[in-house]
Amino acid sequence: MADTFDAIVIGGGPGGYNAAIRLGQLGLSAACIDKRGAFGGTCLNVGCIPSKALLHASERLHEAENDFARLGIKAKVSLDLPQMMAQKTKVVGELTRGVEFLLKKNKAEAIVGEARITAPGKVSVRLADGKTRELTAKNIIIATGSDVAQLPGVAIDEKQIVSSTGAIALESVPKRLLVVGAGVIGLELGSVWRRLGSEVTVVEFLDRVTPGVDLEVSKAFQRVLTKQGLSFQLSTKVTGVEKTKSGLKVTVEPAAGGDKSVIETDVMLVAIGRVPYTANLGLAEVGVAMDKRGRVITDNHYRTNVPGIWAVGDCREGVMLAHKAEDEAVACAELIAGKAGHVNYDAIPSVIYTFPEVATVGKSEEELKAAGVAYKVGKFPFTANARAKTIAATDGFVKILADAKTDRVLGCAIIGPEAGNLIAEVVLAMEFGASSEDIARTCHSHPTLTEAVRQAAMGVEGWTMQM
Ligand code: FAD
Ligand code: NAI
Repeated sequence: MADTFDAIVIGGGPGGYNAAIRLGQLGLSAACIDKRGAFGGTCLNVGCIPSKALLHASERLHEAENDFARLGIKAKVSLDLPQMMAQKTKVVGELTRGVEFLLKKNKAEAIVGEARITAPGKVSVRLADGKTRELTAKNIIIATGSDVAQLPGVAIDEKQIVSSTGAIALESVPKRLLVVGAGVIGLELGSVWRRLGSEVTVVEFLDRVTPGVDLEVSKAFQRVLTKQGLSFQLSTKVTGVEKTKSGLKVTVEPAAGGDKSVIETDVMLVAIGRVPYTANLGLAEVGVAMDKRGRVITDNHYRTNVPGIWAVGDCREGVMLAHKAEDEAVACAELIAGKAGHVNYDAIPSVIYTFPEVATVGKSEEELKAAGVAYKVGKFPFTANARAKTIAATDGFVKILADAKTDRVLGCAIIGPEAGNLIAEVVLAMEFGASSEDIARTCHSHPTLTEAVRQAAMGVEGWTMQM
Protein backbone atom coordinates (compact mmCIF):
# COMPACT_ATOMS: atom_id res chain seq x y z
CA MET A 1 0.00 0.00 0.00
CA ALA A 2 1.36 3.42 -0.96
CA ASP A 3 1.97 5.86 1.85
CA THR A 4 1.98 8.93 -0.38
CA PHE A 5 -1.26 10.61 -1.47
CA ASP A 6 -2.39 13.78 -3.20
CA ALA A 7 -4.39 14.53 -0.05
CA ILE A 8 -4.81 13.09 3.42
CA VAL A 9 -8.18 13.75 5.05
CA ILE A 10 -8.27 13.58 8.84
CA GLY A 11 -11.79 12.71 10.00
CA GLY A 12 -14.37 10.44 8.39
CA GLY A 13 -17.52 12.52 9.02
CA PRO A 14 -19.55 14.43 6.40
CA GLY A 15 -16.65 16.87 5.99
CA GLY A 16 -14.01 14.17 5.70
CA TYR A 17 -15.67 11.41 3.71
CA ASN A 18 -17.21 13.79 1.18
CA ALA A 19 -13.82 15.45 0.65
CA ALA A 20 -12.22 12.05 0.02
CA ILE A 21 -15.00 10.99 -2.38
CA ARG A 22 -14.82 14.23 -4.38
CA LEU A 23 -11.01 14.04 -4.51
CA GLY A 24 -11.35 10.53 -5.93
CA GLN A 25 -13.90 11.69 -8.50
CA LEU A 26 -11.45 14.38 -9.60
CA GLY A 27 -8.71 11.80 -10.11
CA LEU A 28 -6.68 12.61 -6.99
CA SER A 29 -5.48 9.94 -4.57
CA ALA A 30 -6.72 10.33 -1.01
CA ALA A 31 -6.61 8.65 2.37
CA CYS A 32 -9.46 9.21 4.83
CA ILE A 33 -8.52 8.53 8.44
CA ASP A 34 -10.91 8.15 11.37
CA LYS A 35 -10.15 6.89 14.84
CA ARG A 36 -13.76 5.95 15.60
CA GLY A 37 -13.68 2.52 13.96
CA ALA A 38 -16.75 3.24 11.83
CA PHE A 39 -16.87 5.93 9.15
CA GLY A 40 -19.53 8.66 8.96
CA GLY A 41 -18.37 10.76 11.92
CA THR A 42 -20.64 12.24 14.55
CA CYS A 43 -23.46 12.55 12.03
CA LEU A 44 -23.88 8.89 11.13
CA ASN A 45 -22.69 7.29 14.36
CA VAL A 46 -24.10 9.40 17.19
CA GLY A 47 -25.77 12.44 15.61
CA CYS A 48 -28.13 13.10 12.71
CA ILE A 49 -28.93 9.50 11.83
CA PRO A 50 -29.59 7.76 15.17
CA SER A 51 -31.49 10.81 16.46
CA LYS A 52 -33.70 10.89 13.36
CA ALA A 53 -34.35 7.15 13.61
CA LEU A 54 -35.60 7.65 17.17
CA LEU A 55 -37.58 10.77 16.23
CA HIS A 56 -39.33 8.81 13.49
CA ALA A 57 -40.11 5.78 15.62
CA SER A 58 -41.29 7.77 18.64
CA GLU A 59 -43.46 9.96 16.40
CA ARG A 60 -45.18 6.85 15.01
CA LEU A 61 -45.85 5.61 18.56
CA HIS A 62 -47.24 8.98 19.56
CA GLU A 63 -49.44 9.04 16.47
CA ALA A 64 -50.76 5.56 17.13
CA GLU A 65 -51.51 6.39 20.76
CA ASN A 66 -53.03 9.82 20.18
CA ASP A 67 -54.22 10.28 16.59
CA PHE A 68 -55.35 6.89 15.27
CA ALA A 69 -58.70 6.84 17.09
CA ARG A 70 -59.64 10.19 15.54
CA LEU A 71 -58.84 8.77 12.11
CA GLY A 72 -61.08 5.79 12.73
CA ILE A 73 -58.31 3.32 13.41
CA LYS A 74 -58.54 1.09 16.46
CA ALA A 75 -55.16 -0.17 17.60
CA LYS A 76 -53.46 -1.17 20.80
CA VAL A 77 -49.80 -0.36 20.68
CA SER A 78 -47.01 -0.47 23.22
CA LEU A 79 -43.36 0.45 23.31
CA ASP A 80 -40.61 -2.11 22.66
CA LEU A 81 -37.60 0.07 23.49
CA PRO A 82 -34.90 -2.58 22.83
CA GLN A 83 -36.34 -3.12 19.33
CA MET A 84 -36.55 0.64 18.71
CA MET A 85 -32.88 0.94 19.67
CA ALA A 86 -31.96 -2.14 17.61
CA GLN A 87 -33.64 -0.63 14.54
CA LYS A 88 -31.69 2.60 15.10
CA THR A 89 -28.43 0.66 15.40
CA LYS A 90 -29.19 -1.31 12.24
CA VAL A 91 -29.73 1.87 10.22
CA VAL A 92 -26.51 3.37 11.56
CA GLY A 93 -24.55 0.21 10.64
CA GLU A 94 -25.94 0.13 7.11
CA LEU A 95 -25.08 3.77 6.51
CA THR A 96 -21.59 3.70 8.03
CA ARG A 97 -20.75 0.62 5.95
CA GLY A 98 -22.17 2.53 2.98
CA VAL A 99 -19.60 5.28 3.53
CA GLU A 100 -16.77 2.73 3.54
CA PHE A 101 -18.12 1.36 0.27
CA LEU A 102 -18.24 4.86 -1.26
CA LEU A 103 -14.67 5.59 -0.20
CA LYS A 104 -13.52 2.35 -1.81
CA LYS A 105 -15.57 3.01 -4.94
CA ASN A 106 -13.82 6.35 -5.32
CA LYS A 107 -10.39 4.80 -4.69
CA ALA A 108 -9.83 6.58 -1.39
CA GLU A 109 -8.09 4.50 1.26
CA ALA A 110 -10.10 4.30 4.49
CA ILE A 111 -7.75 4.03 7.45
CA VAL A 112 -8.87 3.40 11.02
CA GLY A 113 -6.52 5.12 13.42
CA GLU A 114 -5.67 8.33 15.24
CA ALA A 115 -3.93 10.85 13.01
CA ARG A 116 -1.45 13.51 14.04
CA ILE A 117 0.15 16.12 11.80
CA THR A 118 3.90 15.99 12.44
CA ALA A 119 4.92 18.56 9.80
CA PRO A 120 3.35 20.16 6.74
CA GLY A 121 2.69 17.24 4.38
CA LYS A 122 3.31 14.59 7.04
CA VAL A 123 0.79 12.63 9.08
CA SER A 124 1.50 9.91 11.59
CA VAL A 125 -1.34 7.43 12.21
CA ARG A 126 -1.58 5.28 15.32
CA LEU A 127 -3.41 2.20 14.04
CA ALA A 128 -5.82 0.05 16.02
CA ASP A 129 -3.14 -2.64 16.55
CA GLY A 130 -0.80 -0.10 18.16
CA LYS A 131 1.49 0.16 15.13
CA THR A 132 2.24 3.49 13.49
CA ARG A 133 1.97 4.35 9.81
CA GLU A 134 3.73 7.44 8.41
CA LEU A 135 1.96 9.10 5.48
CA THR A 136 2.90 12.00 3.24
CA ALA A 137 0.81 14.22 0.97
CA LYS A 138 0.89 17.61 -0.71
CA ASN A 139 -2.38 18.45 1.02
CA ILE A 140 -3.86 17.69 4.42
CA ILE A 141 -7.55 18.41 5.13
CA ILE A 142 -8.52 18.75 8.78
CA ALA A 143 -12.11 17.51 9.19
CA THR A 144 -12.02 16.45 12.83
CA GLY A 145 -15.47 17.82 13.69
CA SER A 146 -16.78 18.74 17.09
CA ASP A 147 -17.47 17.39 20.56
CA VAL A 148 -20.01 17.99 23.33
CA ALA A 149 -19.68 21.32 25.20
CA GLN A 150 -19.36 20.58 28.91
CA LEU A 151 -21.26 22.28 31.70
CA PRO A 152 -18.66 23.46 34.24
CA GLY A 153 -18.60 21.26 37.33
CA VAL A 154 -20.89 18.62 35.81
CA ALA A 155 -19.35 15.27 34.86
CA ILE A 156 -21.14 13.43 32.06
CA ASP A 157 -21.36 9.68 32.82
CA GLU A 158 -23.64 8.87 29.82
CA LYS A 159 -26.02 6.98 32.14
CA GLN A 160 -27.62 9.49 34.52
CA ILE A 161 -25.96 12.67 33.29
CA VAL A 162 -25.88 12.28 29.54
CA SER A 163 -24.85 14.11 26.41
CA SER A 164 -26.70 13.45 23.16
CA THR A 165 -24.62 10.27 22.82
CA GLY A 166 -26.07 8.80 26.03
CA ALA A 167 -29.52 10.20 25.31
CA ILE A 168 -29.85 8.19 22.09
CA ALA A 169 -28.98 4.99 23.92
CA LEU A 170 -30.88 4.99 27.22
CA GLU A 171 -31.86 1.46 28.24
CA SER A 172 -35.17 2.44 29.81
CA VAL A 173 -37.53 5.39 29.66
CA PRO A 174 -36.64 7.76 32.50
CA LYS A 175 -39.67 8.85 34.51
CA ARG A 176 -38.23 12.38 34.62
CA LEU A 177 -35.78 13.93 32.17
CA LEU A 178 -34.20 17.33 32.70
CA VAL A 179 -32.81 18.87 29.53
CA VAL A 180 -30.24 21.64 29.87
CA GLY A 181 -30.37 23.82 26.75
CA ALA A 182 -33.44 24.56 24.58
CA GLY A 183 -31.46 24.26 21.36
CA VAL A 184 -31.68 21.72 18.58
CA ILE A 185 -30.47 18.67 20.50
CA GLY A 186 -32.44 19.48 23.65
CA LEU A 187 -35.72 19.86 21.78
CA GLU A 188 -35.25 16.94 19.37
CA LEU A 189 -34.20 14.45 22.05
CA GLY A 190 -36.53 15.99 24.63
CA SER A 191 -39.35 15.30 22.14
CA VAL A 192 -38.22 11.69 21.68
CA TRP A 193 -38.32 10.89 25.39
CA ARG A 194 -41.52 12.88 25.99
CA ARG A 195 -43.26 10.77 23.33
CA LEU A 196 -41.90 7.61 24.95
CA GLY A 197 -43.37 8.66 28.29
CA SER A 198 -40.87 10.83 30.22
CA GLU A 199 -41.84 14.01 32.03
CA VAL A 200 -39.53 16.48 30.32
CA THR A 201 -38.40 19.81 31.78
CA VAL A 202 -36.17 22.05 29.69
CA VAL A 203 -33.92 24.60 31.42
CA GLU A 204 -32.63 27.34 29.13
CA PHE A 205 -30.19 30.12 29.95
CA LEU A 206 -31.70 32.64 27.52
CA ASP A 207 -35.26 34.02 27.58
CA ARG A 208 -36.33 32.04 24.49
CA VAL A 209 -35.96 28.64 22.89
CA THR A 210 -33.89 28.03 19.73
CA PRO A 211 -31.82 31.23 19.75
CA GLY A 212 -31.03 32.37 16.21
CA VAL A 213 -34.31 31.08 14.75
CA ASP A 214 -36.88 33.73 13.67
CA LEU A 215 -38.43 34.87 16.97
CA GLU A 216 -42.05 34.53 15.84
CA VAL A 217 -41.35 30.93 14.84
CA SER A 218 -39.49 30.22 18.10
CA LYS A 219 -42.45 31.45 20.13
CA ALA A 220 -44.92 29.36 18.12
CA PHE A 221 -42.55 26.39 18.51
CA GLN A 222 -42.42 26.72 22.28
CA ARG A 223 -46.23 26.90 22.42
CA VAL A 224 -46.59 23.68 20.43
CA LEU A 225 -44.00 21.84 22.50
CA THR A 226 -45.70 23.00 25.68
CA LYS A 227 -48.99 21.57 24.35
CA GLN A 228 -47.13 18.30 23.81
CA GLY A 229 -46.22 18.25 27.49
CA LEU A 230 -42.66 19.64 27.61
CA SER A 231 -42.25 22.24 30.32
CA PHE A 232 -39.81 25.13 30.10
CA GLN A 233 -37.82 27.17 32.59
CA LEU A 234 -36.31 30.01 30.57
CA SER A 235 -33.73 32.56 31.78
CA THR A 236 -32.49 29.87 34.15
CA LYS A 237 -29.08 28.31 34.70
CA VAL A 238 -27.93 25.05 36.26
CA THR A 239 -25.42 25.66 39.02
CA GLY A 240 -24.88 22.17 40.44
CA VAL A 241 -25.90 18.53 40.39
CA GLU A 242 -25.94 16.04 43.21
CA LYS A 243 -26.39 12.30 42.72
CA THR A 244 -28.78 10.79 45.26
CA LYS A 245 -30.05 7.25 45.80
CA SER A 246 -33.23 8.01 43.89
CA GLY A 247 -31.79 10.13 41.07
CA LEU A 248 -30.37 13.60 40.66
CA LYS A 249 -30.88 16.86 42.52
CA VAL A 250 -30.19 19.68 40.10
CA THR A 251 -29.72 23.17 41.49
CA VAL A 252 -30.91 26.00 39.26
CA GLU A 253 -31.09 29.75 39.63
CA PRO A 254 -32.22 32.69 37.51
CA ALA A 255 -29.69 33.42 34.76
CA ALA A 256 -29.28 36.94 36.12
CA GLY A 257 -28.68 35.59 39.64
CA GLY A 258 -31.15 35.16 42.49
CA ASP A 259 -32.71 32.47 44.66
CA LYS A 260 -31.65 28.91 44.03
CA SER A 261 -34.15 26.08 43.67
CA VAL A 262 -33.82 22.33 43.20
CA ILE A 263 -35.27 20.16 40.43
CA GLU A 264 -35.33 16.43 41.10
CA THR A 265 -34.87 14.25 38.06
CA ASP A 266 -33.81 10.77 36.98
CA VAL A 267 -31.72 11.70 33.96
CA MET A 268 -30.19 15.00 32.91
CA LEU A 269 -29.29 15.73 29.29
CA VAL A 270 -26.58 18.36 28.80
CA ALA A 271 -27.22 19.98 25.39
CA ILE A 272 -25.62 23.41 25.58
CA GLY A 273 -23.79 23.33 22.26
CA ARG A 274 -20.74 21.71 20.70
CA VAL A 275 -17.11 22.72 20.55
CA PRO A 276 -14.55 22.15 17.78
CA TYR A 277 -12.50 19.00 18.23
CA THR A 278 -8.82 19.41 17.50
CA ALA A 279 -7.16 17.68 20.46
CA ASN A 280 -3.87 15.78 19.97
CA LEU A 281 -3.72 16.73 16.33
CA GLY A 282 -0.38 18.52 16.51
CA LEU A 283 -1.85 21.82 15.28
CA ALA A 284 -0.01 24.04 17.76
CA GLU A 285 3.31 22.30 17.02
CA VAL A 286 2.89 22.74 13.26
CA GLY A 287 1.76 26.35 13.78
CA VAL A 288 -1.85 26.14 12.50
CA ALA A 289 -3.67 29.24 13.78
CA MET A 290 -6.83 28.80 15.85
CA ASP A 291 -9.34 31.35 17.18
CA LYS A 292 -10.38 31.92 20.80
CA ARG A 293 -13.11 29.29 20.51
CA GLY A 294 -10.60 26.65 19.41
CA ARG A 295 -11.74 26.66 15.76
CA VAL A 296 -9.20 26.24 12.99
CA ILE A 297 -8.87 29.59 11.19
CA THR A 298 -9.09 29.42 7.41
CA ASP A 299 -9.54 31.89 4.58
CA ASN A 300 -12.65 31.75 2.34
CA HIS A 301 -11.00 28.93 0.44
CA TYR A 302 -10.52 26.65 3.50
CA ARG A 303 -6.75 27.27 3.59
CA THR A 304 -5.16 27.56 7.01
CA ASN A 305 -2.12 29.79 7.55
CA VAL A 306 0.16 26.77 6.89
CA PRO A 307 0.50 26.07 3.15
CA GLY A 308 -0.99 22.70 2.17
CA ILE A 309 -3.16 22.40 5.30
CA TRP A 310 -6.90 22.97 4.86
CA ALA A 311 -9.93 22.67 7.18
CA VAL A 312 -13.65 22.02 6.65
CA GLY A 313 -16.76 21.27 8.72
CA ASP A 314 -17.50 21.67 12.43
CA CYS A 315 -13.83 22.29 13.32
CA ARG A 316 -13.89 25.66 11.54
CA GLU A 317 -16.25 28.64 11.79
CA GLY A 318 -19.93 28.56 10.87
CA VAL A 319 -23.00 26.52 11.68
CA MET A 320 -22.33 22.97 12.84
CA LEU A 321 -24.40 21.10 10.29
CA ALA A 322 -23.66 18.00 8.25
CA HIS A 323 -24.64 19.54 4.91
CA LYS A 324 -22.50 22.63 5.60
CA ALA A 325 -19.54 20.30 6.26
CA GLU A 326 -20.36 18.37 3.08
CA ASP A 327 -20.54 21.50 0.91
CA GLU A 328 -17.26 22.80 2.30
CA ALA A 329 -15.68 19.41 1.64
CA VAL A 330 -16.74 19.45 -2.00
CA ALA A 331 -15.50 23.03 -2.48
CA CYS A 332 -12.19 22.29 -0.73
CA ALA A 333 -11.54 19.17 -2.85
CA GLU A 334 -12.34 21.14 -6.00
CA LEU A 335 -9.99 23.94 -4.96
CA ILE A 336 -7.22 21.39 -4.32
CA ALA A 337 -7.86 20.02 -7.83
CA GLY A 338 -7.48 23.53 -9.26
CA LYS A 339 -11.19 24.12 -9.79
CA ALA A 340 -13.41 26.95 -8.50
CA GLY A 341 -15.04 25.42 -5.41
CA HIS A 342 -17.50 27.72 -3.65
CA VAL A 343 -20.15 27.62 -0.89
CA ASN A 344 -23.09 30.03 -0.74
CA TYR A 345 -23.48 30.58 3.01
CA ASP A 346 -26.69 32.59 2.46
CA ALA A 347 -28.47 29.46 1.29
CA ILE A 348 -27.70 26.83 3.92
CA PRO A 349 -30.91 25.49 5.45
CA SER A 350 -31.30 24.44 9.04
CA VAL A 351 -33.95 21.98 10.23
CA ILE A 352 -35.19 20.85 13.63
CA TYR A 353 -36.79 17.43 13.20
CA THR A 354 -39.43 17.61 15.92
CA PHE A 355 -43.16 17.55 15.21
CA PRO A 356 -43.95 19.97 13.77
CA GLU A 357 -40.58 20.53 12.12
CA VAL A 358 -38.87 23.91 12.09
CA ALA A 359 -36.86 24.88 9.02
CA THR A 360 -35.07 28.10 8.19
CA VAL A 361 -32.84 29.51 5.49
CA GLY A 362 -31.26 32.91 4.92
CA LYS A 363 -32.01 35.86 7.15
CA SER A 364 -34.52 36.04 9.99
CA GLU A 365 -36.77 39.07 10.43
CA GLU A 366 -34.65 40.18 13.42
CA GLU A 367 -31.45 39.99 11.34
CA LEU A 368 -32.97 42.07 8.53
CA LYS A 369 -34.17 44.69 11.03
CA ALA A 370 -30.75 44.84 12.69
CA ALA A 371 -29.06 45.25 9.29
CA GLY A 372 -31.50 48.02 8.31
CA VAL A 373 -32.70 46.13 5.23
CA ALA A 374 -36.16 47.12 3.94
CA TYR A 375 -38.15 43.91 3.53
CA LYS A 376 -41.65 42.58 2.95
CA VAL A 377 -43.22 39.57 4.64
CA GLY A 378 -45.58 36.94 3.27
CA LYS A 379 -47.14 34.43 5.65
CA PHE A 380 -49.49 31.50 5.32
CA PRO A 381 -50.84 29.21 8.07
CA PHE A 382 -51.18 25.45 7.64
CA THR A 383 -54.74 25.69 9.02
CA ALA A 384 -55.67 27.07 5.58
CA ASN A 385 -53.77 24.42 3.60
CA ALA A 386 -55.98 21.59 2.28
CA ARG A 387 -53.32 18.87 2.58
CA ALA A 388 -52.47 19.85 6.15
CA LYS A 389 -56.17 19.47 6.96
CA THR A 390 -56.34 16.01 5.39
CA ILE A 391 -53.37 14.79 7.39
CA ALA A 392 -54.57 16.54 10.57
CA ALA A 393 -51.36 18.54 10.94
CA THR A 394 -52.36 22.18 10.88
CA ASP A 395 -50.00 23.67 13.49
CA GLY A 396 -47.60 26.24 12.09
CA PHE A 397 -47.05 28.58 9.17
CA VAL A 398 -44.69 29.55 6.36
CA LYS A 399 -43.00 32.95 6.48
CA ILE A 400 -41.13 34.36 3.50
CA LEU A 401 -39.03 37.52 3.66
CA ALA A 402 -38.19 39.40 0.47
CA ASP A 403 -36.32 42.59 -0.35
CA ALA A 404 -38.81 45.49 -0.41
CA LYS A 405 -37.35 46.97 -3.59
CA THR A 406 -36.16 44.03 -5.66
CA ASP A 407 -38.47 41.27 -4.27
CA ARG A 408 -35.45 38.93 -4.07
CA VAL A 409 -36.07 36.24 -1.43
CA LEU A 410 -33.85 36.94 1.58
CA GLY A 411 -35.06 34.33 4.02
CA CYS A 412 -37.71 31.84 4.96
CA ALA A 413 -38.84 30.20 8.18
CA ILE A 414 -41.34 27.36 8.31
CA ILE A 415 -42.87 25.66 11.30
CA GLY A 416 -45.13 22.85 10.26
CA PRO A 417 -45.41 19.31 8.90
CA GLU A 418 -42.55 18.38 6.53
CA ALA A 419 -40.95 21.81 7.01
CA GLY A 420 -37.52 20.25 6.41
CA ASN A 421 -38.58 19.10 2.94
CA LEU A 422 -40.63 22.21 2.15
CA ILE A 423 -37.70 24.57 2.73
CA ALA A 424 -35.77 22.95 -0.15
CA GLU A 425 -37.67 24.88 -2.82
CA VAL A 426 -36.92 28.17 -1.10
CA VAL A 427 -33.23 27.21 -0.79
CA LEU A 428 -33.17 26.50 -4.52
CA ALA A 429 -34.99 29.77 -5.24
CA MET A 430 -32.41 31.66 -3.17
CA GLU A 431 -29.54 29.85 -4.87
CA PHE A 432 -30.91 31.10 -8.20
CA GLY A 433 -31.52 34.62 -6.84
CA ALA A 434 -35.28 34.23 -7.35
CA SER A 435 -37.95 36.72 -6.30
CA SER A 436 -40.97 35.88 -4.17
CA GLU A 437 -43.04 36.40 -7.32
CA ASP A 438 -41.06 33.61 -9.03
CA ILE A 439 -42.23 31.22 -6.30
CA ALA A 440 -45.76 32.64 -6.33
CA ARG A 441 -46.10 32.15 -10.09
CA THR A 442 -44.66 28.62 -10.10
CA CYS A 443 -47.30 25.92 -10.41
CA HIS A 444 -47.50 23.80 -7.22
CA SER A 445 -49.42 20.52 -7.22
CA HIS A 446 -52.68 20.25 -5.32
CA PRO A 447 -53.30 19.17 -2.64
CA THR A 448 -49.78 19.43 -1.20
CA LEU A 449 -48.12 21.17 1.69
CA THR A 450 -45.96 23.00 -0.89
CA GLU A 451 -48.98 25.15 -1.70
CA ALA A 452 -48.49 26.81 1.69
CA VAL A 453 -45.06 28.01 0.48
CA ARG A 454 -46.63 29.38 -2.69
CA GLN A 455 -49.42 31.13 -0.79
CA ALA A 456 -46.86 32.69 1.58
CA ALA A 457 -44.87 33.91 -1.43
CA MET A 458 -48.07 35.41 -2.88
CA GLY A 459 -48.51 37.15 0.45
CA VAL A 460 -45.32 39.17 -0.04
CA GLU A 461 -47.15 41.23 -2.68
CA GLY A 462 -50.46 40.94 -0.84
CA TRP A 463 -52.29 38.52 -3.14
CA THR A 464 -52.56 35.38 -1.03
CA MET A 465 -55.64 33.70 -2.50
CA GLN A 466 -56.62 30.89 -0.15
CA MET A 467 -57.20 32.89 3.02
P1 FAD B 1 -17.73 14.91 12.49
O1 FAD B 1 -18.94 14.32 11.93
O2 FAD B 1 -17.70 15.20 13.96
O3 FAD B 1 -16.53 13.93 12.10
C1 FAD B 1 -15.24 14.12 12.56
C2 FAD B 1 -14.58 12.77 12.71
O4 FAD B 1 -13.18 12.99 12.92
C3 FAD B 1 -15.05 11.96 13.90
O5 FAD B 1 -15.57 10.73 13.48
C4 FAD B 1 -13.79 11.76 14.76
O6 FAD B 1 -13.71 10.46 15.29
C5 FAD B 1 -12.69 11.98 13.75
N1 FAD B 1 -11.43 12.45 14.33
C6 FAD B 1 -11.23 13.51 15.15
N2 FAD B 1 -9.92 13.64 15.45
C7 FAD B 1 -9.28 12.65 14.79
C8 FAD B 1 -7.92 12.26 14.69
N3 FAD B 1 -6.95 12.93 15.31
N4 FAD B 1 -7.62 11.18 13.94
C9 FAD B 1 -8.59 10.49 13.29
N5 FAD B 1 -9.88 10.83 13.35
C10 FAD B 1 -10.23 11.89 14.08
N6 FAD B 1 -26.45 18.05 11.53
C11 FAD B 1 -27.36 18.13 10.53
O7 FAD B 1 -27.08 18.74 9.49
N7 FAD B 1 -28.59 17.53 10.64
C12 FAD B 1 -28.95 16.85 11.74
O8 FAD B 1 -30.06 16.33 11.81
C13 FAD B 1 -28.02 16.76 12.81
N8 FAD B 1 -28.34 16.09 13.94
C14 FAD B 1 -27.42 15.99 14.93
C15 FAD B 1 -27.78 15.31 16.09
C16 FAD B 1 -26.88 15.19 17.13
C17 FAD B 1 -27.29 14.43 18.37
C18 FAD B 1 -25.58 15.75 17.01
C19 FAD B 1 -24.58 15.60 18.11
C20 FAD B 1 -25.22 16.44 15.86
C21 FAD B 1 -26.13 16.57 14.82
N9 FAD B 1 -25.83 17.27 13.65
C22 FAD B 1 -26.76 17.38 12.66
C23 FAD B 1 -24.52 17.92 13.47
C24 FAD B 1 -23.62 17.05 12.56
O9 FAD B 1 -23.47 15.79 13.16
C25 FAD B 1 -22.27 17.72 12.39
O10 FAD B 1 -22.43 19.04 11.92
C26 FAD B 1 -21.43 16.95 11.37
O11 FAD B 1 -21.23 15.63 11.79
C27 FAD B 1 -20.07 17.63 11.18
O12 FAD B 1 -19.30 16.90 10.29
P2 FAD B 1 -17.71 16.91 10.37
O13 FAD B 1 -17.24 16.01 9.30
O14 FAD B 1 -17.21 18.30 10.40
O15 FAD B 1 -17.35 16.29 11.79
P1 NAI C 1 -27.50 24.68 20.37
O1 NAI C 1 -26.49 25.73 20.20
O2 NAI C 1 -28.50 24.41 19.33
O3 NAI C 1 -28.34 24.97 21.70
C1 NAI C 1 -27.75 25.10 22.95
C2 NAI C 1 -28.71 25.81 23.86
O4 NAI C 1 -28.21 25.75 25.17
C3 NAI C 1 -28.89 27.29 23.52
O5 NAI C 1 -30.25 27.59 23.51
C4 NAI C 1 -28.14 28.00 24.62
O6 NAI C 1 -28.66 29.28 24.93
C5 NAI C 1 -28.33 27.03 25.76
N1 NAI C 1 -27.32 27.10 26.81
C6 NAI C 1 -26.00 27.33 26.70
N2 NAI C 1 -25.41 27.28 27.90
C7 NAI C 1 -26.39 27.01 28.80
C8 NAI C 1 -26.40 26.82 30.21
N3 NAI C 1 -25.29 26.88 30.92
N4 NAI C 1 -27.57 26.56 30.81
C9 NAI C 1 -28.74 26.48 30.08
N5 NAI C 1 -28.77 26.65 28.75
C10 NAI C 1 -27.60 26.90 28.12
O7 NAI C 1 -26.66 23.38 20.74
P2 NAI C 1 -27.07 21.85 20.82
O8 NAI C 1 -28.54 21.70 20.91
O9 NAI C 1 -26.21 21.27 21.89
O10 NAI C 1 -26.60 21.30 19.42
C11 NAI C 1 -25.23 21.43 19.02
C12 NAI C 1 -25.13 21.56 17.54
O11 NAI C 1 -25.45 20.36 16.90
C13 NAI C 1 -26.07 22.60 17.01
O12 NAI C 1 -25.36 23.80 16.87
C14 NAI C 1 -26.50 22.10 15.69
O13 NAI C 1 -25.78 22.77 14.71
C15 NAI C 1 -26.11 20.63 15.69
N6 NAI C 1 -27.33 19.82 15.62
C16 NAI C 1 -28.12 19.94 14.52
C17 NAI C 1 -29.29 19.25 14.43
C18 NAI C 1 -30.15 19.44 13.24
O14 NAI C 1 -29.69 20.01 12.27
N7 NAI C 1 -31.40 18.99 13.26
C19 NAI C 1 -29.73 18.33 15.46
C20 NAI C 1 -28.84 18.32 16.60
C21 NAI C 1 -27.68 19.02 16.63
